[in-house]
Amino acid sequence: MSDLSLFDLTGKKAFVTGAAVGIGRGCAIALAKAGADVAIVDLNEKAGLKTVEEIRSLGRDSLWVRCDVTRREQVQEMVGRIAQHFGRLDIAVNNAGIAILGADESLDQADWDKVIALNLTGVFLCAQAEAQQMLRQMPVEGKIINIASMSATIANCNASYDASKAGVVHMTKTLAAEWGRYNINVNCISPSYLLTPMHASTPMVARQRIRELTPMGYMERPEDLHGAVIFLASAASHYVTGHDLMVDGGHTLNAWLTPLSRSVPPRVSPQEETVQMKHDLDSLGLSYDADGINPDLHPEIADVFKAAFGIK
Ligand SMILES: NC(=O)c1ccc[n+]([C@@H]2O[C@H](COP(=O)([O-])OP(=O)(O)OC[C@H]3O[C@@H](n4cnc5c(N)ncnc54)[C@H](O)[C@@H]3O)[C@@H](O)[C@H]2O)c1
Repeated sequence: MSDLSLFDLTGKKAFVTGAAVGIGRGCAIALAKAGADVAIVDLNEKAGLKTVEEIRSLGRDSLWVRCDVTRREQVQEMVGRIAQHFGRLDIAVNNAGIAILGADESLDQADWDKVIALNLTGVFLCAQAEAQQMLRQMPVEGKIINIASMSATIANCNASYDASKAGVVHMTKTLAAEWGRYNINVNCISPSYLLTPMHASTPMVARQRIRELTPMGYMERPEDLHGAVIFLASAASHYVTGHDLMVDGGHTLNAWLTPLSRSVPPRVSPQEETVQMKHDLDSLGLSYDADGINPDLHPEIADVFKAAFGIK
């Protein structure tokens, strides 16, 4: 086996949740480019079908499955449909998630429940159904990848989001310890601030502040996760399990007090950062300006940055 074939996913059968746009779509494309057939699971059929077409245009099989991952019966049915279509399941990326921001002293319990139901319970329901399917297959084995966040490690968003993501990281360790006996690897990936529709309203001045406080010097894009996803989905990570792979450009390495100085330009320019996010906004039928900003999509996220950075 040559070193590169360690990362080859040819013939592998995969699915990604929340894959219509954003990080999920990026993970699905990464898996397809490495050779896997990839089913697209989401609530947004219009954008999801576009991602299915993209995967097919890469020469891979794909399938659209509508599923609310907070509903156990829908999750069970979704995994069954995908396994039936592909003949087995080798790789699953549990990505669907939300943030409902706001001050914790006045947070509604309903909002807390929504975030935990999707970000934590939804990931568990998916992982459980995936493991059940993997146990029915010969050979028994598989790769489960959960999308957590740097907010699992640093206090970053608010209590519901940060707690849900910390829960994902620790649940990943527990499931990895339990399911290693079945040759099932369970790992998670923790991105930082990533330009997806979730960040479409984040103003340029806040994006610039994030760049200045990130050693790699640019805001994260879905394609910056491709290497991590392929690694954790492939034979290259057979001995890696229960790991939280931080992909944050170094953002969480220190409590930076001043903008970091650079010696060379960052690898990615501000214009290049937004290419995939603009693609997602097109898929969702949403408008944006030249910088890829739609102020109406997530004004509450923009408000958090404005307050934190003292931006008017
Ligand atoms: N964008 C970031 O800065 C960032 C950073 C770290 C971690 N994350 C995490 O990455 C994941 C994806 O984030 P994103 O920025 O791509 O989000 P996004 O909002 O751009 O996309 C999320 C997708 O999930 C789908 N979805 C929502 N609820 C669902 C449900 N109940 N069942 C199935 N699908 C559902 C949506 O339709 C959408 O297509 C989330 O778990 C998020 O917490 C995001």
